[in-house]
Amino acid sequence: MVSINGTGCCLIDYLYPNVDFSAPAFKAALSKKDGDGGLGIGKLVFAEHFETFMGRPYDTVLKELSGGKPSYNLGGPSIVSLVHAAQVLGDTAQVGFFGARGSDATGGLVEAALGRAGFSGGLSDKHARYCLARIEGPTPRTDVLSDPRYDNGHGERTFINVIGAAGLYESGFLTSGVLQGENSPPSDEFFNADIVAFGGTALTPRIHDNLTGLLEKAKQKKAFTLVNLVFDYRSEQTSPGKKWKLGKNDDAYPRIDLLIADKDEAWRTSGCPSPGDALRWFLEKGCGAAIITEGSRAVHFASGRAPFTVFKPQTLPVSGAIDRELAAHPEKRGDTTGCGDNFAGGVIAGIAGQLEERGPEELDIREACVPGIAAGGFACFTLGGVFYEKQSGEKAKLLEPFIEAYRKEQFSVLK
Ligand SMILES: Nc1ncnc2c1ncn2[C@@H]1O[C@H](COP(=O)(O)OP(=O)(O)OP(=O)(O)O)[C@@H](O)[C@H]1O
Ligand SMILES: [Mg+2]
Repeated sequence: MVSINGTGCCLIDYLYPNVDFSAPAFKAALSKKDGDGGLGIGKLVFAEHFETFMGRPYDTVLKELSGGKPSYNLGGPSIVSLVHAAQVLGDTAQVGFFGARGSDATGGLVEAALGRAGFSGGLSDKHARYCLARIEGPTPRTDVLSDPRYDNGHGERTFINVIGAAGLYESGFLTSGVLQGENSPPSDEFFNADIVAFGGTALTPRIHDNLTGLLEKAKQKKAFTLVNLVFDYRSEQTSPGKKWKLGKNDDAYPRIDLLIADKDEAWRTSGCPSPGDALRWFLEKGCGAAIITEGSRAVHFASGRAPFTVFKPQTLPVSGAIDRELAAHPEKRGDTTGCGDNFAGGVIAGIAGQLEERGPEELDIREACVPGIAAGGFACFTLGGVFYEKQSGEKAKLLEPFIEAYRKEQFSVLK
């Protein structure tokens, strides 16, 4: 049985569906110049900076702007990818999420959603489990204000992230040390896995800054290491326009077996706007393999060292069968939230399958992209990133025809 442990971003997205971006109160909350902490259409700000910008408590301002009750979803690159991997791998794998919640009602929503997604609390023998450190203060969340009438009815959104407990979650919760609290795992538990996955750690800053050491520890334990990026708003704010770092000294790469990023993240992290150049840069810096996604456009990938066989930078298309299904049944369309996170989950599942089959050698990055492409596309059918199964095995079954169709259509490429 393959074991997968992951940490990083796990939060609740609150969606306020009917905000008027043309209202005077909203206009007053808009950023006047880059990095001033004001809201940006299509952009994310941190609640604490927004609060300073407004000069009033964030919760009061949110009430004024949001007008009404939100709906909510479990989100975050780490948990969404792990939920997907656990669902499609079923009993062939043991999946664990390690993270933080705060002391508020949102924390309860996170745990309820994890339960609905088949995860059990504590470090049981269950096939999907979570270990959430309880930290005083708010649970991480993103408030999403949406104006469906904006831009002649195309609609737009603006995002406000409350980092809360995620801002205090640090390496000590994952390693042995002073921070071992009631809900902390026994020392090394996190690293004792076949796959150790870091997802969206730019939104768990203390983990992000210690990425190199944490990856090193996972490598010492002979784990396969995977890093799935998220937009690094903190770097963007502290050093606008500068290249983002992975690890405090930009030295995480040799310890990363597989890096997954979307095109913008790859560009900002490598400094290379073209995905081909970015892939080359990541491999030169020491990554085993890298994948760059580009929404409904191609998926770029390359691999350069063990445990992978070598692939020069090349592309695969997204799933045509999913596009056809969406065109034939527009009523099945959800939204594109979590496409990237599910893509990463599919790739994690693909790597897990290969590890089970042949051990940590001669892994095939092109083959691992296929379940990612199906999972990323499939997320277009759901609202939010998580698909809640009615019975276990449901998602794997629904994905099967898309994976099969993809292999058939790409037969000339995929031998
Ligand atoms: N419209 C689409 N049709 C088919 N597949 C899609 C579509 N949008 C996304 N995907 C699949 O999901 C993958 C990841 O999407 P994308 O590059 O948008 O990730 P992202 O920017 O990280 O998204 P997010 O952060 O919102 O989850 C794509 O490579 C593709 O396989
Ligand atoms: Mg993403």
